[in-house]
Amino acid sequence: MFTEKKTVFITSALPYINGVKHLGNLIGSMLPADFYARVSRLQGKETLYICATDEHGTPAELAAAAQNLTPAEFCERAHTVQKDLCERFGMSWDYFGRSSSPANHELTQYFQDKLNENGLIEERATDQVYSVDEARFLPDRYVVGTCPHCNYDKARGDQCENCTRVLDPADLIKPRSAVSGSENIEIRSSKHLFLKQSQYTERLRDFITEKEKAGWTNLPVSIAKKWLDEGLHDRGITRDLQWGVPVNRPGFENKVFYVWFDAPIAYIAATKEHIERTDKDPKAWRRFWRKNDGADDVFYLQFMAKDNIPFHTVSFPITLLGAGEDWKPVDYIKGFNWLTYYGGKFSTSSKRGVFMNDALEVTDADYWRWHLLSNAPENSDSAFTWEDFQISINKDLADTLGNFVNRIARFAHAKFGETLPDRAKSLGEHEQAAFEKLQAKIKLYFEAINGFEIRKAANELRGIWFAGNEYLQIAAPWTVYKTDPEKSGESVNFAFHMIGLFASLSKPFIPNLAEKIASVLPGISFDEVWKQNQSFDFSNQIPEKFQFNLPPILVEKAEDETVTEWKSRFSGVEN
Ligand code: 2FM
Ligand code: ZN
Repeated sequence: MFTEKKTVFITSALPYINGVKHLGNLIGSMLPADFYARVSRLQGKETLYICATDEHGTPAELAAAAQNLTPAEFCERAHTVQKDLCERFGMSWDYFGRSSSPANHELTQYFQDKLNENGLIEERATDQVYSVDEARFLPDRYVVGTCPHCNYDKARGDQCENCTRVLDPADLIKPRSAVSGSENIEIRSSKHLFLKQSQYTERLRDFITEKEKAGWTNLPVSIAKKWLDEGLHDRGITRDLQWGVPVNRPGFENKVFYVWFDAPIAYIAATKEHIERTDKDPKAWRRFWRKNDGADDVFYLQFMAKDNIPFHTVSFPITLLGAGEDWKPVDYIKGFNWLTYYGGKFSTSSKRGVFMNDALEVTDADYWRWHLLSNAPENSDSAFTWEDFQISINKDLADTLGNFVNRIARFAHAKFGETLPDRAKSLGEHEQAAFEKLQAKIKLYFEAINGFEIRKAANELRGIWFAGNEYLQIAAPWTVYKTDPEKSGESVNFAFHMIGLFASLSKPFIPNLAEKIASVLPGISFDEVWKQNQSFDFSNQIPEKFQFNLPPILVEKAEDETVTEWKSRFSGVEN
């Protein structure tokens, strides 16, 4: 078990609303979160997995304007698109909410109040870029101009992409609006709220040290410590925008909270909304978030890519702890490095890489799940290549898993009809050896899962499927059948137990395929293995004279020509 606690609460970083996500986004947060939600349910724990779309900020406003929609209209449509795509990838969340919900407005304003009561909020005058023609303030990155260092003429107000220097919009030569191109811009003073993070440095250090002792990995700990060692800066938590959570303070009528202030609060808001709709007790959401209501008995697990880690190890904990109540911060962060596309960045604008909608057009969601999870960028960045994807499909899923199931099921059907031949009174030599090997591998599989090592878990599972094939090679029921049909039948029976076992063990990785495999043995579940660990005796789970189903071909191989076609379609050629 990755936790002894009986209740597991999972959130994955909230995907931005402004476009369809690519495979790197999927493997960096939602997919591993879904994997652990499934594991946790199989382990028999009460499990709640919450996600939502992150809907505020300038990118959402601009994406809406580009489609001639209001931000609210755009977000509503884009939310439905993302929800649908994610669910087609098998996301088994309990609720997929929206950061623009009334509950999040209310809670975000509530946190501002509490932080303010505790002296952690301060009003400050700041200089902002104002576009006179557009009658709006522009965030730094939406001001472009010529870089004073390298003369690049499309440098952004926050950073020059060409020479990487960090800039201030006032540094730019010939600044203009990236939205309209207007050069009629000026610097105006604007009041904003700042969260006084600098005052929280030592308390946050204690929090991180405690988590390090509790077994957090190097990725979140080192990122948090880097920020702490550099000294925490106070952070502006409001913006001059229309679309967002309104700021509940006189003088802030035309401002909203910064998207990174309200987005993590939406974890709470979405939990609250979900529970208010589904639980008899509308206050039951507090069990996940308030220590005095039982949150200490809940294991809270967050999933995210490394760019999100500072917000989840620094800013959000300060929001929660700084509120001065009994809010419960995260117990464990599973962070990810980048998934690259052949070593380079996935890019929406140059159509480089694979996006979730394209991926589902190309092939089955479970093939993607297996490939992405078994190559998750856990300890370093990991490169997606079509060649590796083909190996995952053809070797792992088709040759190893699919072939095992199809081969033995077809043989059984041809020789014994639809009734499974009886099992042996006691395990024979080959069966005993296979049984022991599998027990040992299952132990390693669960250890990897419980240690949050997804790639390692995938390796162990692959080894388990492989052991099934090895058993068939050695026991060779097709050869034995010629001289001893009864013994061959016993071997078939044992192999069918492996079918049920493999289906159950594979569920978190490939839920649909696992279900198809399990349908060979209707009404029989091997899920008990998840609770009993390696001591599970899988060899006697199927009743005598059992009527089984012959499965269809389970996995379609990806042919070389198809892979070549995929590769050219997604390699980022200009249109
Ligand atoms: O990086 C992202 O996609 C952000 N939208 C993640 C937000 S996570 C949370 F804090 F809401
Ligand atoms: Zn430059």
